Amino acid sequence: MRVLITGASSGIGLQLARDYAAAGHQLIACGRDRDKLTSSCGDIASQLVVADNADRDATLAAMAGLGEIDLAILNAGGCEYIDDALQFDSALFRRVIDTNLNGTAYALEALLPQLRRGGRVAIMSSTSTLLPFSRAEAYGASKAGLDYLANSLRIDLRRHAIGVSLIRPCFVDTPLTARNTFAMPGIISPARASRIIIKQLARGRDEINFTRPFVAFLRLVAWLPSALNNRLQGGKRQS
Ligand SMILES: NC(=O)c1ccc[n+]([C@@H]2O[C@H](COP(=O)([O-])OP(=O)(O)OC[C@H]3O[C@@H](n4cnc5c(N)ncnc54)[C@H](OP(=O)(O)O)[C@@H]3O)[C@@H](O)[C@H]2O)c1
Repeated sequence: MRVLITGASSGIGLQLARDYAAAGHQLIACGRDRDKLTSSCGDIASQLVVADNADRDATLAAMAGLGEIDLAILNAGGCEYIDDALQFDSALFRRVIDTNLNGTAYALEALLPQLRRGGRVAIMSSTSTLLPFSRAEAYGASKAGLDYLANSLRIDLRRHAIGVSLIRPCFVDTPLTARNTFAMPGIISPARASRIIIKQLARGRDEINFTRPFVAFLRLVAWLPSALNNRLQGGKRQS
């Protein structure tokens, strides 16, 4: 297969890149930093594509003319938290939406015409869309947008025989989560995340949510009255 991965320079994307390349697939690795992408994927990729995915023109130019692609994994993303809700930082909000949601849309615009019939697009969301998390207003909104985008796109690409997978990982030990100062229950290695994703994509799964115990826990809390989650994460209301 010809497999394209965005955000291939680090974390989950890099592990996926290594694993697909090791399995003999042809890899197109995408990132925004040429040096970082070259040192991480230079030896394993048949092609490197450099562009900031929040920049539409750069993304369209960099991803033009790649040729037929079997699988595109749109994984690039970042996380920034709103630390003080009263001082709502709309510039931060916009940055996160630009990178995670709009960046995915730009990649879709560039890549869908190059996806072969029978091919697949995978969109990297997060289990954070299953339950609202404290300080995740921007990150969660960007990923919730990706959920809808993927589920809607799947309906419309069906007649073109292109599958759409929505991936919602639990906490994975990467540079992104290394910045978190809170406990991350059930955190797994990028190697395990990659194994799960590759296996489920090969099965053509529409939704890839993992790990099962973590997803079950989130769904249970989400099913309880929302007041409970608000109290659990938000603490006591001050009068
Ligand atoms: N780790 C988790 O617990 C977790 C859980 C659920 C979902 N996810 C999602 O999984 C994806 C990968 O995250 P990760 O944990 O592997 O994080 P990571 O190690 O920080 O990797 C993120 C990748 O995205 C790239 N990227 C970020 N902003 C970009 C931009 N504007 N243009 C182009 N590339 C950009 C990064 O490039 P640079 O190397 O240049 O920074 C890097 O290659 C993200 O979409 C994240 O939201 C992660």
